[in-house]
Amino acid sequence: MNKDVKSILIDENEIQKIVKDISAKITNDYKDRNSKLLLLCILKGSVVFMGDLMKNINLPVEIDFMKVSSYGSDAKTSGNVNIILDIHRTDLADVDILIVEDIIDSGKTLSYLSEYLLLKGAKSVKTVTLLDKPSRREVDFVPDYTGKIIPDEFVVGYGLDYAEKYRALPYVGILKEEVYSK
Ligand code: IMP
Ligand code: MG
Repeated sequence: MNKDVKSILIDENEIQKIVKDISAKITNDYKDRNSKLLLLCILKGSVVFMGDLMKNINLPVEIDFMKVSSYGSDAKTSGNVNIILDIHRTDLADVDILIVEDIIDSGKTLSYLSEYLLLKGAKSVKTVTLLDKPSRREVDFVPDYTGKIIPDEFVVGYGLDYAEKYRALPYVGILKEEVYSK
C-alpha cells in the first residue's frame, strides 16, 4: 500500500464488480435506442473508470472528453465551474450523452454540465459516477448510476488525485490527513 494512504476503501476486485454491474445496467438501459451513445469522460479523474466502463458496456459507444476546473492543490471544493476543454461537435441531436465522473462532492460540476450539454442540443444527458459523497452536497443532484456511496473522506487512486499524485493506484484509498493538512 502507498505510504500516504491510511486505508483501502475499495480494492481492485470490488472496483471490477462495481464496473461490471454498472455496465450491465447501462447496456440494458440503452440497448433499444437508435441514437448514438457518447461516453463523455470528465478529465482527468475519470479516465481510469472510463477505460474500464467502455470495455464492459456491450454496445457501440463513441467517446469524448471535457475538462473543467476542480480542486487546486488543496482539498477544498471550488465555487464555480469553468470549462477548460469543451467538446467541439455540434451534431448532438441524435446523441445520448452519458457523463462519466469519478466522484460527486458538492454536485456543482455535474449539475452544471448536465444543463450545459442539454443546451448544446444533446438528445439526452445522463450521469454515471464511480463514487458519491452525498453528505457534501451543496446543490441538489442525483446521478443516474452510482458505483458506491462513500463517507466524507478524501480519497485517491483509480484516477483520483491529490495535487496530481496517486492517480495510478489500482485501488481507491483514504488519504492520510497529514498529507493535505501540512
Ligand atoms: P463537485 O463539483 O464538488 O461535485 O466536484 C467533484 C470533483 O471534485 C471530482 O470530479 C473530483 O475532481 C473532486 N473531488 C471531490 N472529492 C474528491 C476526493 O475525495 N478525492 C479526489 N477528488 C475529489
Ligand atoms: Mg473530476
